[in-house]
Amino acid sequence: MKRKVIFALLFATLCTLSACGKNDSTDDSIVVKKGSFNIVTENTSDGEVQDDITKGYIVTVSATTISTVAESGNTISETITAVPETPAETPASEAGYTAELPETEVPETESPEIYSEIPETEIPSEYEIPETTEESAPSVIDYTPSTATAGTPASTAVLPADAPKESDYNYGPAPVVYDIAGIKYIDNVLIANKSYSLPADFYPELDQTCLNQFYKLQNDASAVGLNIYLSSGFRSYYTQDTIYNNYVAMDGQEMADTYSARPGHSEHQSGLAIDVNQIDDTFIGTPEAIWLEQHCYEYGFILRYPQSKQDITGYKYESWHIRYVGTDMSYKIHAKALEMGDPYLTLEEYFGIDSYYH
Ligand code: DAL
Ligand code: ZN
Repeated sequence: MKRKVIFALLFATLCTLSACGKNDSTDDSIVVKKGSFNIVTENTSDGEVQDDITKGYIVTVSATTISTVAESGNTISETITAVPETPAETPASEAGYTAELPETEVPETESPEIYSEIPETEIPSEYEIPETTEESAPSVIDYTPSTATAGTPASTAVLPADAPKESDYNYGPAPVVYDIAGIKYIDNVLIANKSYSLPADFYPELDQTCLNQFYKLQNDASAVGLNIYLSSGFRSYYTQDTIYNNYVAMDGQEMADTYSARPGHSEHQSGLAIDVNQIDDTFIGTPEAIWLEQHCYEYGFILRYPQSKQDITGYKYESWHIRYVGTDMSYKIHAKALEMGDPYLTLEEYFGIDSYYH
């Protein structure tokens, strides 16, 4: 019953926009450009219905997916809502993110009063998608941690004295290293950029340690009156393919390549990247953005695409995109950055690698 309501509303919306002459259609999908409309999506596992009011977005509706990509002036935003019908083809959770923090992940002794202060509404509803079942996750992925594929260590940096110890609240362990051919690691840090890609079937979902550390960051920001929320977490190869191709259709490939990764090249596919708040330049200079840039390393994140580093990272400044590396590495990178008088050192600079499509 709910499903009928959902699609009735969705089609009514699309038909309205079509009548206004604001949509383009292809054989297997409907693409709506630059509209102001409501999207109704369904959580397919538990039947929950979610409303998402979307403005100035591109919406692609295919047999298996509803996706949204935001646009803001000359600055492109991106977010995704997927409603898969066939889990084997399209994994059940494109966001790979469960809004509710499992009790076991954050012991009550770790500042429970702060965790409880975060209202559920701070988590965008489009990410309230159930975890992918084992059946729908690609079977080729070996979840066994391993150092077997680690690349040549590029850094012998000593851990700074102020880095959190394992017993400290802020301590964030290094993320899992997957023993999968085709994934580049340096010092056990996964590299996903224009030079190094991820296999199409690599589908780790959002790393749980990364998410837990993000919650700590979010709580501490909340304690000083700032609202930092997750806007985009894990994105599959196929989701990125949709997003990237929409941008190419809109701006051409040369422009799209400055702000959107080609499928296989997005850090979001690694499960270690998070976009927060507004995914566009309106986030720049906000108290949240300033706090994030100054403090994210304390939780194991780095600002991945800093200002004036497009020639190095391959991407324009993204004030909203942080990458989890664990606190040992984030403190090493931060210390090196201070040493060099450069507040935001990139992975490319730290490890001496490039980022361009070969
Ligand atoms: N916007 C970043 C570069 C991505 O598409 O992953
Ligand atoms: Zn991002």
